[in-house]
Amino acid sequence: MKKEMEKALNKQVNAELYSSYLYLAMESYFQSISLSGFASWMRVQVQEEMFHGIKIYDYIHERGGKARLEAIAKPEEKWETPLAAFEHVLAHEQHVTGLINNLIDVALDVRDHAAKAFLDWFITEQVEEESTAGQIVDRLRLIGKDSSGLFLLDTELAKRVFVVPVK
Ligand code: FEO
Repeated sequence: MKKEMEKALNKQVNAELYSSYLYLAMESYFQSISLSGFASWMRVQVQEEMFHGIKIYDYIHERGGKARLEAIAKPEEKWETPLAAFEHVLAHEQHVTGLINNLIDVALDVRDHAAKAFLDWFITEQVEEESTAGQIVDRLRLIGKDSSGLFLLDTELAKRVFVVPVK
């Protein structure tokens, strides 16, 4: 694998681990305001992001490269409202989609079609991530200040479980 591709993939490992860290901070925020269903949804998100990071880490080694772990930035700790937190999730996922698109550009530039095929999985995943976050943002906007609606959504979000995606 070309060094440029390896470097770009390594950067993405860090971005995925940062995502995991950010959602762990959001889990803590939801715990602190006693929305345990939201917190539990975030825990699944933490696991998904860790899975994404490790998936790229494994791929670097599979291609004969070396995964290099950099420092993970400190995430925010607090959000004004559950809506603000989920707007942040949506904006963050849109940002990650941009990073994946850039990675694919690198793969195409260096004519690494294997890396391109590997990264296609992430393209599909990002569509789902943005759609899910967008739906929750919409629901929270509809709920507004109605606490019974919020608790109903909390109960619904509690049902999410982490399923290891099939390779
Ligand atoms: Fe790994 Fe939420 O993108």
